[in-house]
Amino acid sequence: MLTFKKTTLALALAGATLATTAQAAEVEVLHWWTSGGEARAANVLKELMEAEGYGWQDFAVAGGGGETAMTVLKSRAMSGNPPSAAQIKGPEIQEWGELGLLGDLNEVAEAEGWDELLPEVVADIMRYDGQYVAVPVNVHRVNWLWANPAVLEAAGVEMPTTLDEMFAAGEAIREAGYVPLAHGGQSWQDATVFESVLLGGQGSEFYQQALVELDPEALGGEQMIAALEDFKRTRELMDDGMSGRDWNIATAMVIEGTAGMQLMGDWAKGEFTAAGLTAGEDYLCAAAPGTEDAFTFNIDSLAMFRVTDEGEHDAQQALARLVLEPTFQEAFNLAKGSIPARPDLDMSEFDSCAQQSLADFQRTADEGGLVPSMAHGMAVRADVQGAIFDVVTNYFNDANMPAEEAAQRMVRAAQAAAF
Ligand code: BGC
Repeated sequence: MLTFKKTTLALALAGATLATTAQAAEVEVLHWWTSGGEARAANVLKELMEAEGYGWQDFAVAGGGGETAMTVLKSRAMSGNPPSAAQIKGPEIQEWGELGLLGDLNEVAEAEGWDELLPEVVADIMRYDGQYVAVPVNVHRVNWLWANPAVLEAAGVEMPTTLDEMFAAGEAIREAGYVPLAHGGQSWQDATVFESVLLGGQGSEFYQQALVELDPEALGGEQMIAALEDFKRTRELMDDGMSGRDWNIATAMVIEGTAGMQLMGDWAKGEFTAAGLTAGEDYLCAAAPGTEDAFTFNIDSLAMFRVTDEGEHDAQQALARLVLEPTFQEAFNLAKGSIPARPDLDMSEFDSCAQQSLADFQRTADEGGLVPSMAHGMAVRADVQGAIFDVVTNYFNDANMPAEEAAQRMVRAAQAAAF
């Protein structure tokens, strides 16, 4: 996805230096937080910036998972006019750093003591070449199952804790007249379900070997074949209208009680919260079946582009400072469904799902099982991720492709994209 040629890179660099047109004391921020819950969360940052006297130019590009936003960002950067800040995550921060387009945040990081404040696993992702170039806004957990308790009750089932239980519960939910698993047929959503099912059936060590280290034996082996078969089975729990459906529309099906469950990261909680619902009462959360000892993390962060305008530079530094302050961390993450990026905050205002997320993050960090989300750009570079997405979605939608063939394609995708 992020493949610049050397020549276009040089042009982009020259353009970036010339781009001094942004107004003083204003930041333009690219993000893809456009659903109800996401927009409420993004608004927290806008209001805090404005309260400090800075201008906020909203550069929101709709599209869950951020693929469209990244395409738009790439073309803005290529034309030498990147925004002040952009929601860029995981290894992709390194790719933008390599292009020489990011500005450093060392001054604010030092003044605010980021090294002491942030868990190393988080801080590490924010640095390029030893310099802070991005600021983390949160920690999302991807391996969650959400459910409507009234639907589960009508079907006479409990929240499933294993894949077998999920398939059995799904059948009962269908018989009771509901859609078992709400889903949107978009490749990032397919990949989100795939990685949770793989983790649930095969465990975090296998997840790490296959989806993080891209070990060809893991990618092409028996466990991958079993994971792909489990994944294909989840299709039987989905409805015919899923093609192209946005993730928040799928969440709305659970909220409204037309569907029983959804496998989705905890930005889905932002939708339940925006609808005024209470965790543990109006909706349920649990680790995706079979994954209670694992945590697929997805850290949203804002990377800063190198700018020459002093006002814009000041505004960027203020933005970075505000993002890690307790006021923002609490208000934003309450709305977003995630947990704060800094672990030292009072969590008493957070609901039971967030409390569980924090406890599981810390437990899996200590005992093993904390793994980066492949589907959300935390595990592998963008080109490899794109190639894996293609295999996952093609296999999911092709009734005739055997899992063995998809596993072989997975090996080739990782190899081809690596060069
Ligand atoms: C982002 C979340 C966002 C979700 C759906 C994820 O990749 O990390 O912040 O809410 O996509 O758009």
